[in-house]
Amino acid sequence: MTKLSDTPNRFGLVSRIFHWGMAALFAMQFLSAAAHWALPRENALRETLWSYHTNLGATLFMLVLLRGIWGLLNMKNRPAHVGGVMGKAAKFGQAGLYAFMIIVPAVRLLAAFGSKRGFSYFGMQVFPPRETAIAWTQAAAEWHGEMGWILVALVLGHIAMAIVWHRLIQRDDVLKRMA
Ligand code: HEM
Repeated sequence: MTKLSDTPNRFGLVSRIFHWGMAALFAMQFLSAAAHWALPRENALRETLWSYHTNLGATLFMLVLLRGIWGLLNMKNRPAHVGGVMGKAAKFGQAGLYAFMIIVPAVRLLAAFGSKRGFSYFGMQVFPPRETAIAWTQAAAEWHGEMGWILVALVLGHIAMAIVWHRLIQRDDVLKRMA
């Protein structure tokens, strides 16, 4: 029977739904960022893809936090990393992924909190507009885009490790544990 929680041999249903659901949502988020970067301002496709960037970004922020909590609750039962240098590299890479998945949306949300425009989530006002912006809340958001592209690179590295290293070279069952 499919288990909801993780076991030492396999990630449970909840972790797998988090993983693949968030992978799909991050792909959409990266697509909106790529269109924003590559297409001219008046382009209709750019407008359409950009229209969901802030709502999806805030959703991903909440999902990352929930997924982190679920991961911590399952910490003792999760499949272990392989040993050696590659295991250490995987741990390091995944810590980086988590850090950027939190920091990238967090800096923009913090900027929205301290901005004159405020922030609404699917039409619900979360942060009201301010008369004057709080300067320090805007500072880190200047790097939001650059950090977003670093996150793209980390995700591509994560996919390459899963497919090239584990599936094609090592031929181990690491990918199956999340499949
Ligand atoms: C995990 C979530 C997020 C990712 C991966 C992400 C990624 C990106 C990337 C890569 C860019 C650069 C696009 C370019 O070069 O033209 C960008 C820009 C932008 N994002 Fe996000 N974003 C996320 C969440 C958010 C959130 C939550 C907000 C607002 C509350 C937001 C607002 C913006 C804005 C206004 C820009 C254009 C200005 C700038 O580059 O800072 N993003 N985002």
